[in-house]
Amino acid sequence: MAKYNIVLLPGDGIGPEVVKEAVKVLQVIGDKYTISFNFTEALVGGAAIEETGDPLPKETLELCRTHKYILFGAVGGPKWEDLPRDKRPERAILDLRKKLELYANLRPAYLFPSLAHSSPLKEEILKNGIDILVVRELTGDIYFGEPRGREALEYGYKAIDTAVYTSREIERIARKAFEIAKKRRKKVTSVDKANVLETSRLWREVVTEVSKKYPQIELNHQYVDNCSMQLIKNPRQFDVILTGNMFGDILSDEASMLIGSIGLLPSASLGERDIAIYEPIHGSAPDIAGQKKANPIAAILSAGMMLKYSFDMPEAEEQIKKAVISTLEEGYRTPDILREGDLPVDTETMGSLIAEKIKTYK
Ligand code: NAD
Ligand code: IPM
Ligand code: MN
Repeated sequence: MAKYNIVLLPGDGIGPEVVKEAVKVLQVIGDKYTISFNFTEALVGGAAIEETGDPLPKETLELCRTHKYILFGAVGGPKWEDLPRDKRPERAILDLRKKLELYANLRPAYLFPSLAHSSPLKEEILKNGIDILVVRELTGDIYFGEPRGREALEYGYKAIDTAVYTSREIERIARKAFEIAKKRRKKVTSVDKANVLETSRLWREVVTEVSKKYPQIELNHQYVDNCSMQLIKNPRQFDVILTGNMFGDILSDEASMLIGSIGLLPSASLGERDIAIYEPIHGSAPDIAGQKKANPIAAILSAGMMLKYSFDMPEAEEQIKKAVISTLEEGYRTPDILREGDLPVDTETMGSLIAEKIKTYK
């Protein structure tokens, strides 16, 4: 019997609520495919600060390195908002990505047909569906460049963040995007700000160079301001969006709303080795935490991505997607996607409905 060790990092706010539902679904998959998933929970983010004073305790990092497959909830919250940058809960996810060299973050935005009415976009814009994969570079850019910090001036302060990209960093994420595009609709839109930023000028050059090895893939470039507009005007034009850390963060939240809710968009953070983090793109949602309102679908689909990318079980991921589609088609909705006439459910019920559906499949 195959056996996989999975680290659960529930974190803060709705993190634990949605991770619990993803585990429920993985357990059903484990039973079906006679795979033993061994879950080990560890502290991260604000929860870890409370217990140990450190958002990413050494034990947690070590566990991630040895167990390799990580299901992450969310970190952060008002309680820790005033801490300095390096002590905040968010530091944990940034350090995990950097230390585990997970430079490729895949964020698929797929419109479930029955949710078209949850999207703020007009029906005519949605009629051909939305199926976008944001490939976000995850370990470089203004998130990690040096120098950074604050300097006292004679009057007030100077705050510094530095955007840095090397050609090697751009090349490896570009290759990932082109490889994935081969298996999709064969189109890459590279998004940058090459009219202003030096990092973006290098980005464009390197992406163009990499694209020469992929003649079957159509490449076009867009400035990020235009892209954020085009996503709303004509989302169907996009297949793979290849972009840097900062723009990818922002554009993927925008993409999530095109499909109805940020509670629907999963992600996989991958590198060159078999270690990986699977995480919904949303945060800890302090405004709804503890109220059973969180949509667990992003976390459940993230577990699905783990099955596909880490365990080579694409058919198990398909079963999860099928169960999500069918549960939504039956009208069940968490509050974020609820409209008149729908069947309101809480976080746990949504997770159970999806898990039960999977049990009925062959
Ligand atoms: P957020 O994503 O937590 O919430 C934004 C809005 O979306 C809120 O109204 C929230 O209720 C809603 N929302 C988010 N997830 C939802 C879900 N699954 N179901 C239904 N509604 C959902 O972003 P924020 O409010 O800007 O940030 C809150 C905290 O989370 C901050 O501390 C931030 O740094 C942190 N954060 C963490 C991660 C992460 O851990 N990966 C990601 C983003 C933000
Ligand atoms: C995300 C989050 C993180 C990011 C924060 C919490 C550091 O917004 O995963 O999208 O900016 O990458
Ligand atoms: Mn984000």
